[in-house]
Amino acid sequence: MKSIEKLRNSKPVILPSMLMCDFTNIKQECDRLADAGAQAIHLDVMDGVFVPNMTYGIPIVEAFRKSTDMFLDVHLMIEKPESYIKQFADAGSDLLTIHVEATADPIGCIDLIHECDVAAGIAVNPNTDLEQIKRIAEKCELVLIMSVHAGFGGQSFIDEAIPRLKQMRELSDRYLLEVDGGVNKQTISRCADVGVDMFVVGSAIFNEEDYGSAISQLAILTETENKNA
Ligand code: DX5
Ligand code: ZN
Repeated sequence: MKSIEKLRNSKPVILPSMLMCDFTNIKQECDRLADAGAQAIHLDVMDGVFVPNMTYGIPIVEAFRKSTDMFLDVHLMIEKPESYIKQFADAGSDLLTIHVEATADPIGCIDLIHECDVAAGIAVNPNTDLEQIKRIAEKCELVLIMSVHAGFGGQSFIDEAIPRLKQMRELSDRYLLEVDGGVNKQTISRCADVGVDMFVVGSAIFNEEDYGSAISQLAILTETENKNA
């Protein structure tokens, strides 16, 4: 779990969400993003059951691992994630985030992730009560507050995510706080202001020709006086 320490020391971190990348050129896309200054990438695994969309699974995570040294932040939007933790860990994930809504035993699942020597995150959808994750969050390296309903890229940011992020930041500084969905030049500063460390960005990077300028413009907008050190 060494690499999460490195990430902690380099926050705030912009994480390109690879949903919209060119999957015929995974290695080239990773190289372009690394050259553009990305230190970590976000992989969205969807099973068509927990969310009404299907993306990719273990072999593609493995392909990313073979293509890059960047930190792999893997967001599991799958039902009963406990059945697949070992395989996603073996595929080379550096961090595995599960949804609290997806399992009857989130704490058991977090323990399983740690047993695989991988960092663990807990994610929560916009309509789920934060009380459901507060106890679990104590055991996690990362808390992910969804700012869209999990399932698709390119959705609009849900403003109610801001007070939810603030609440989870005020609760503790121990975990990394991540936001995912609709993060762009218009919404990123507000997230930074309430103490977000990790910003997942899909369309606002991949709709741009120049990943480098997209990432650096977003990074500048995270610089805020209120930002947690
Ligand atoms: C949504 C995914 C996000 C999404 C982000 O379920 O978890 O990572 O792809 O894409 P944008 O930035 O376009 O909302
Ligand atoms: Zn995601």
